[in-house]
Amino acid sequence: MAKRDLISVLDMKDEWPDLVDLAIELKKERGNHNAPLKGKTLIMMFEKPSTRTRISFDVAITELGGHALYIDVSKMQMGHGETVEDTAKVMSRFVHGIMYRAYDYKMMDKIGEYATIPVISGLDNLEHPCQALADMVTIKEKKGSFRGKKLVYLGDGNNVCNSLLYSSAIMGLDMIACCPATRMPNAEIMLGAARIADANGSKIIASHDPMEACKDADILYTDTWISMGDDTPEDKAVKLFKMYQINSELLEIAKKDCIVMHCLPAHRGHEITAEVMDGPQSVVFDQAENRLHAQKAVLYALLK
Ligand code: CP
Ligand code: NVA
Repeated sequence: MAKRDLISVLDMKDEWPDLVDLAIELKKERGNHNAPLKGKTLIMMFEKPSTRTRISFDVAITELGGHALYIDVSKMQMGHGETVEDTAKVMSRFVHGIMYRAYDYKMMDKIGEYATIPVISGLDNLEHPCQALADMVTIKEKKGSFRGKKLVYLGDGNNVCNSLLYSSAIMGLDMIACCPATRMPNAEIMLGAARIADANGSKIIASHDPMEACKDADILYTDTWISMGDDTPEDKAVKLFKMYQINSELLEIAKKDCIVMHCLPAHRGHEITAEVMDGPQSVVFDQAENRLHAQKAVLYALLK
């Protein structure tokens, strides 16, 4: 059977709803897994820092009976002249799966092309699919269903926003990407997500007006204004994004039972106020925990 990757949400589009349910099942049976990935090794290659992705993948595969290896890409021969192609082929002889956090999606695609084992994105400049899967798990747990619910993403139209667009469209969740005109999500992804949503009876909408967008929202979501690898100066980012901050005035406009999400790491006082982040409507730490359960579902589906 051909190997499969999770580089874009679209790679597992058809199983996305089942993966959400599997993650919820695996969460319930935590501590009682019967080592389905016994003997499997995952290499985790990082070009950028990480707390959640690194730890949750390591714990996920360990609890499923397998083993993880961490490697800082700058310490590999790949950072010192060996080609990506050769690296991918060599790793395919040693381990059973690759989790890769890259600056450039082209590197991610190349690893995917040359590896003969599954490649799972731990984020690149275009997408963060494992984050989006964990987010869908969190929304299902907190809201019960997706249909007719409205998610408003505020701030930078980045990798997290792109994967959320695809995921929302697949799950039938209405999503508004509310971003400055110069920082809208990737146009191709937005269009692709809108097409999926159309076929699914849900809506993907662009907005530049937070006060309008947040009316009757069920979920407000934000991420850092300056992603890893983005060299926008802080003062410029603050000026550009400040009206998109999730604060109590904005939350007031949303539904009374609106939840607040953030993929973390958060910058209190920038994209979200401390009051909201630490307040009763915030689900950010449940969301972070769900990375573990969602990634178990992905590892099980791709490595078993
Ligand atoms: N949300 C997320 O991917 O966090 P890390 O950068 O800590 O992995
Ligand atoms: N958009 C952020 C997400 C971090 C988890 C970044 O790429 O830095």
